[in-house]
Amino acid sequence: MKNRVVSGYRPSGRLHLGHYHGNLKNMVELQSTHECFFFVADWHALTTGYKDTSQLGAYTTEMVLDWLAAGLDPNACTIYRQSDIGSIPELTLYFGMVITLGELERCPTYKEQLRELDARVVNTFGFLGYPVLQAADILIVDAELVPVGEDQLPHLELTREIARDFNSLYGRTFPEPKGLLSSAPKIPGTDGRKMSKSYENAIVLDDSPDVIRKKVRKYITDPARMRRDDKGHPEVCTIFQLYRVYFADTIDSVANECEGALVGCTECKDRLAERIAADLAPFRERRAQIAGDTALAGKVLAAGAEKVSPIASETLTRARKAMKIGTL
Ligand code: TRP
Ligand code: SF4
Repeated sequence: MKNRVVSGYRPSGRLHLGHYHGNLKNMVELQSTHECFFFVADWHALTTGYKDTSQLGAYTTEMVLDWLAAGLDPNACTIYRQSDIGSIPELTLYFGMVITLGELERCPTYKEQLRELDARVVNTFGFLGYPVLQAADILIVDAELVPVGEDQLPHLELTREIARDFNSLYGRTFPEPKGLLSSAPKIPGTDGRKMSKSYENAIVLDDSPDVIRKKVRKYITDPARMRRDDKGHPEVCTIFQLYRVYFADTIDSVANECEGALVGCTECKDRLAERIAADLAPFRERRAQIAGDTALAGKVLAAGAEKVSPIASETLTRARKAMKIGTL
């Protein structure tokens, strides 16, 4: 087997710090050591967003440009769009035959989303089948390693289950891929919840230094620290969680400053905001450089589709053979 890596993002708007530390950074690093396949999961975007598809194209373009600006290099990895790979839905169909409804209904992300989203919208065949499509994304390129956020682990478990069931029914056809989690701590959003576009609490990678400072100032700090000379408790402060990412080397002295009331929260926040902005400066620069290149995303996706399509059809042929589909 080829030691391949695959990961996909739903095109749903600009990338933010949660994506970046959660696994985009990992993806950028993996391109120099592994054969990497990174795709825009536009079919997956339909599972919750099928009613309004007007932004799908624009979001896909933005995602590709954000990826390029963040350091994904189309010469070092393959960047493509899910809906350009026609073998994926056929593989999804076969996987749908072997997975049981119970396994899909038990999936924690399914149960959670059914609770959180409008049940009338997501009570569909496509939404229940989300992890089946994801398994096809992964196994169509024989990937063994899948860099993802922690929330995706149940989907990887289902992918392995599907591969196991398929292999035991029809003979060994697919590897059993593993997830690769980032070592970075969770990135809280400005309201203290997980950073997410839908919570409107995200610092997006393209935010200006000024916007970053304003957003960072919104975070709730240690609620017991009412006055400048109150001693702080960094372990309860969301800003301190971000310090763990951005000031890992000097984290102890930051804790001391806070506990000894040697620094005020505003000053502490502004210092963090400056560091975040400095860290994102190369991204913003590259992103601005390519923003005007209206043909770039299309070219990258076309080249990617050309590379992945033959690999995907080969896998599909192998699966069909194993299942004795299309033979007499
Ligand atoms: N479910 C993933 C997410 O919401 C996106 C995704 C679709 C994916 N297919 C994938 C991730 C295959 C990894 C591999 O983030
Ligand atoms: Fe949080 Fe910094 Fe204020 Fe301490 S000084 S409570 S770490 S913002």
